[in-house]
Amino acid sequence: MKEPMILNHPLLQHKVSHLRDVNTGTKEFKELVSEIAMLMCYEATRDLPTQEVEITTPITTDKFKVLAGRKLAVVPILRAGLGMVDGVLALIPAAKVGHIGLYRDPASLEPVEYYCKLPADISEREVMVVDPMLATGGSASDAITQIKKRGAKTIKFLCIIAAPEGIKRLHDTHPDVEIYAAALDKCLNEHGYIVPGLGDAGDRIFGTK
Ligand code: URA
Repeated sequence: MKEPMILNHPLLQHKVSHLRDVNTGTKEFKELVSEIAMLMCYEATRDLPTQEVEITTPITTDKFKVLAGRKLAVVPILRAGLGMVDGVLALIPAAKVGHIGLYRDPASLEPVEYYCKLPADISEREVMVVDPMLATGGSASDAITQIKKRGAKTIKFLCIIAAPEGIKRLHDTHPDVEIYAAALDKCLNEHGYIVPGLGDAGDRIFGTK
């Protein structure tokens, strides 16, 4: 069982605080989400394997480390997860991008997948599932269940703000999935929003409020 990683780096804390500010407009919000995702991706890829290759510098030839060629995929949970993709790709341009969208059937409360397109070789890739807000953990757990059904074996989940409820649910459902968050907030309110949170991440990224 993997313990959640709360990344309390000063740069992340600074950027997340600005993200929370109700006066931060759409353009800045989107840029901050992307920058935060990039910093989180840097942390979440610390364990990537490396291999030594011979490189000739202008001075001499020696052995140096490069990535050992593990293939990666980033899968945003629609819609807010889309805001984190560019930040991840800025560091790992060769990563493939899958997409997954789910909603909860209001009658049965069962998750309904309305869109899922993943790289064909998802089972050979290390997968980063991204969604800015881990609230109840329902969408993240359901999305990861679907992604596993299609063969993914190694999955990390990256969110900007997590609620304790979401961490517990995701951890209970998928104990093999490592959770990375830039902030752990207090709780959920009666409408399912994270407190203090930042409001609706999707609306703030896409300016739909
Ligand atoms: N989704 C959001 O965008 N914000 C929350 O606070 C909870 C879920």
